[in-house]
Amino acid sequence: MNKDLSIEFCGVKCENPFFLSSSVVGSNYDMCAKALEMGWAGVVFKTIGFYIPSEVSPRFDVIGKENTPFMGFKNMEQISDHPLEQNLKWLKKLKENYPSKVIVASIMGENEDEWTELARLVTRTGADIIECNFSCPQMTSEAMGADVGQNPELVKKYCQATRRGTNLPILSKMTPNLGDMIIPAIASIEGGADAIAAINTVKSITRVDLDALTPFPIINGKSAVSGYSGKAVKPIALRFINELAQNKRLENVPISGMGGIETWSDAVEFILLGASNIQITTAIMQYGYRIIDDLISGLSLYMEENGFEKLDELVGMALKNIVTADKLDRTYVIYPKFNKDICVGCGRCYISCYDGGHQAIKWNSENREVSLIKKNCVGCHLCINVCPVNAISSGEKIYK
Ligand SMILES: Cc1cc2nc3c(=O)[nH]c(=O)nc-3n(C[C@H](O)[C@H](O)[C@H](O)COP(=O)(O)O)c2cc1C
Repeated sequence: MNKDLSIEFCGVKCENPFFLSSSVVGSNYDMCAKALEMGWAGVVFKTIGFYIPSEVSPRFDVIGKENTPFMGFKNMEQISDHPLEQNLKWLKKLKENYPSKVIVASIMGENEDEWTELARLVTRTGADIIECNFSCPQMTSEAMGADVGQNPELVKKYCQATRRGTNLPILSKMTPNLGDMIIPAIASIEGGADAIAAINTVKSITRVDLDALTPFPIINGKSAVSGYSGKAVKPIALRFINELAQNKRLENVPISGMGGIETWSDAVEFILLGASNIQITTAIMQYGYRIIDDLISGLSLYMEENGFEKLDELVGMALKNIVTADKLDRTYVIYPKFNKDICVGCGRCYISCYDGGHQAIKWNSENREVSLIKKNCVGCHLCINVCPVNAISSGEKIYK
């Protein structure tokens, strides 16, 4: 039986931490209703605004590696291309038909008046939370998107404008296309936001077609920089979540985490770094809403096995173990240990250590066996990372 995964986010009770993130996966009533029926606790509806974009075809590209065809995903979509009236009706109907679920309205305006009016309109639909999208990197209007999120004055001004139109909790959605997310995050809170959502997509060019001499996706011979998401961006997202959670000026500000979450264990990593809410798009585009079953049962089992009764006990548990690089213990070396019974003699550890390490592995070409040259080994563990059959593990630890 699954554990109680309920958690409060921005003062709103959520039956579990899993929400659709604002995107194509939640862009009309039927899609959101299906996801909610299948067990998602909430939906962040596709960003809506007065501006109705015209979209390109095709609009996606994917990057794979070896057996993983879908490592990173590039999209060129802007905000909802449905009429505002229609979107508002869908939001209202969702709240009416799913009162115990959490409905988040994502909005984007072009000026202060629009932000206030959008906030007012979505509040009237009965939505529980408003998310301000300051972070879509492929908007065709300069007054909207990721470039707004890079400007703390605008972020603060638009949060204030949103606050004028609503009493609902406000989530400010950050762009990762900057060096220091703390600056716009603090500006958001000063402007009246209650919580931070991170990350939106990373500005990218995924691949260039070598014949057409144009990046993908190719639209009538041209392409453009646009947002990257999925598994490949998870390390970038986790870095930002950690920084938000560790910052003293953002203490007790709830965080909704997203970026590359596919499995329950990805989600736990975000929670351990301080996120109390989880949002997902790209994995749903690849596998469908049904991943919620794995997310719920995996998280439940993890809590059971590790003796956690309530989900909020996990939030931020790993933060104490993240320090700045100057505080790491640099007094020892851990040598690799080779397991001859598992080794297939491929020589990859030897090649990597010689060409990309410290020439600390000796290769016997007659019996294809490796051995360690201890005096050269610095304990970097490149060999452990490249071994395709897990025949190398951590061994003896010596103090320098
Ligand atoms: C096709 C597509 C459309 C998106 N549309 C929006 C949007 O309308 N509003 C928004 O805030 N984020 C949008 N996003 C960003 C996602 O909500 C999310 O922040 C990002 O993709 C990272 O999460 P993921 O790796 O789980 O996809 C979109 C992402 C994709 C892939």
